[in-house]
Amino acid sequence: MLFARRSTGRLVAPAPTGADLGTILRAAAAAPDHERLRPFRFTVLEGHAKEAFGEVLAAAYDSRCAAAGAAALPAKREKERTKLGRAPLVLVVSAVRQASATVPWLEQLAAAAAAAQNACLAATALGFGSMWRTGEPSYDAEVKAALGLGATDAVVGWLYLGSHRKGAVPAPNDPDLTGLLLPWPPP
Ligand SMILES: Cc1cc2nc3c(=O)[nH]c(=O)nc-3n(C[C@H](O)[C@H](O)[C@H](O)COP(=O)(O)O)c2cc1C
Repeated sequence: MLFARRSTGRLVAPAPTGADLGTILRAAAAAPDHERLRPFRFTVLEGHAKEAFGEVLAAAYDSRCAAAGAAALPAKREKERTKLGRAPLVLVVSAVRQASATVPWLEQLAAAAAAAQNACLAATALGFGSMWRTGEPSYDAEVKAALGLGATDAVVGWLYLGSHRKGAVPAPNDPDLTGLLLPWPPP
């Protein structure tokens, strides 16, 4: 099952709902989490909320262009507005910074990333497709504010979830370990 998780750029209805969505969220919340700080947060965008958030992404693109003194490109703006349409449900995984004397922010981000991966794996186990994306909106203060996040919090991933088109289940991953094993002691 681990190797069956592959990224699928376009997913169709049905999205995971009800008990399946609950399982995906619970799997995410079961991620390893130093000191159980629970730094991860989840936002489910589907239906009208997904469309409304597309307007947020388009407005944030306009703001980024204005801040850079550049003209907004209509095609790029339209891509921002419609990009959440690539799947019937988008699960935003964020990390909200928790006060801790011992667990640095990097570890809180790592816990949220583990939550995102758990969600993708749970979706795969339930027969759904997934794709973890980020991009400029992840780092945009306007987008973070629209998600209820503070400037020092982080969007870790936009998980596109849904069903595979008929006959379009991707082949399992076949990882290549070349160059990944570091000899120790180092040469
Ligand atoms: C933090 C993170 C952000 C990513 N952002 C994007 C992205 O914005 N666009 C994209 O095409 N792939 C992105 N990817 C990569 C895909 O999710 C995917 O892992 C990659 O295309 C390899 O495909 P596979 O998962 O089927 O092996 C991201 C992966 C991670 C871990």
